[in-house]
Amino acid sequence: MNRLIFAVSIVLMISCKDKHVDSSSGAEEPHSVSTYYQEPFRPQFHFSPPNKWMNDPNGLVFHHGIYHLFYQYYPEDIVWGPMHWGHAVSQDLIHWEHKPIALYPDEHGLIFSGSAVVDLQNTSGFGTIENPPLVAIFTYHNMDGEKQGRNDFQTQGIAFSLDDGDTWTKYGGNPVIQNKGLKDFRDPKVFWYAAQSKWILTLVAGDHAKFFESTNLKDWKLMSEFGKNQGAHGGVWECPDLFPLFVEGTDETKWVLLISMNPGAPNGGSGTQYFIGDFNGITFTSEQDQAKWLDYGMDDYAGVTYNNLPLKNRTFIGWMSNWNYARNTPTEAWRSSMTLPRNLSLITQNGDYFLRNYPVKTLEGLTSKIEIASEIVLRETFTLQRDDFMQTDFSFNADLSKPLKVVYGNTSGHISLEVRPDTGTLVFDRSQSGIVDFEESFGKHPQNQPYIPSGEEVEVRIILDRSSVEIFIDGGRYVFTNQVFPIQPYTTLSITGTGQTLAHVQLNAIKSIWNE
Ligand code: FRU
Repeated sequence: MNRLIFAVSIVLMISCKDKHVDSSSGAEEPHSVSTYYQEPFRPQFHFSPPNKWMNDPNGLVFHHGIYHLFYQYYPEDIVWGPMHWGHAVSQDLIHWEHKPIALYPDEHGLIFSGSAVVDLQNTSGFGTIENPPLVAIFTYHNMDGEKQGRNDFQTQGIAFSLDDGDTWTKYGGNPVIQNKGLKDFRDPKVFWYAAQSKWILTLVAGDHAKFFESTNLKDWKLMSEFGKNQGAHGGVWECPDLFPLFVEGTDETKWVLLISMNPGAPNGGSGTQYFIGDFNGITFTSEQDQAKWLDYGMDDYAGVTYNNLPLKNRTFIGWMSNWNYARNTPTEAWRSSMTLPRNLSLITQNGDYFLRNYPVKTLEGLTSKIEIASEIVLRETFTLQRDDFMQTDFSFNADLSKPLKVVYGNTSGHISLEVRPDTGTLVFDRSQSGIVDFEESFGKHPQNQPYIPSGEEVEVRIILDRSSVEIFIDGGRYVFTNQVFPIQPYTTLSITGTGQTLAHVQLNAIKSIWNE
């Protein structure tokens, strides 16, 4: 390199340097823009930790115009270890800024999953009415107790912040809920129940949920239980969330209980079921016996919703992995990311209630249109070539009463989505997607989801981000969320049908949030 070019490039490198908080130390460290978040498979518009291991989203709360995202974090390794709460913030749920670690393990144990609330009336006394505290409610997991074979090693603790989540103080009276002998007793989700001016806490105890009440976030009383004989029980219940939702297009409100479960999901490993019912401030009841699943993909787990948003906005984030292989995925600097934030809505179909989950609208701020035909008649296979489909959002509307197959691929692998009216299923296949051999169940079986076409046009939307594919059909009534590890970026999109018309066809490129 001649000296002038060298000097110019040094100046450029310096001016391109961006400051990002290194979340493990809290210190600000410069990273070169050209390599930051550019490792193989690194998601470009999904949240992933700066480095090391992440699992569940925790403490989702909206406060002072900021969305907080805390997460299960082990800052020392890319496999699960002693849990901390990592922290990031966003103004639009799409662009994230890393913050220092919020909660560290202490003498009571590791910091497992939980929630956060804004204590507006200062019921806890941790703050003032003028500066209400943020209060985090989480599970303490005591490793010594577990090693000794005890069954009371999970308890619930609280901590508060008076500076918008930047620094946290643990409550001196922890734990606030003791364990009377339940091996699985965790993942408290708290919200303010205005109708009875009290806090409600839901946690899970192996095969059921327990509901507690409190007026100050410190003293909790058990009210009721739900679920021993309802829903799916192929694994341990985890990460509950209870909230009201309007039934779309009506004034009716129903209550939704999300329950993650591992293993026992319909396509293997970890998954999230939901119950629709009623809550009277004391008990949750549902007429539903069978499980309904939020997502039939294998990589949407432990998802919960934001506290302190207006009633009409129920925003959900899940962990985009599966305990079957979370520790084995082929990334090196970090492990796993979150799903796109999604709005939840409640609809009725054939006299029954169902949830939809669909990406938040702010994602559109990152997209730019790629010119393609807006209508495609599928007389023969439609094919589109691009250098790289790995950061795209593709959608069309179609009546899914006839067979249809969408494939993304290259010479070294492919993924496919099939509409199979003969079997009444939607099928997603990643068995040939690229690197699949790090664990047996990852690519073994095509994933199935029951689907009865309505005879009306529905939207099919497929969002790819380097190592993930999120498929939303009929506005998120049918969803597949999956990780994929292509050896090379997919360069071909092909769609095969039987003469049907795809309308409102749209292809968008999606920018990176890390290197804009
Ligand atoms: C769910 C989960 C939670 C627990 C946390 C530990 O993925 O097992 O039940 O609190 O992860 O990291």
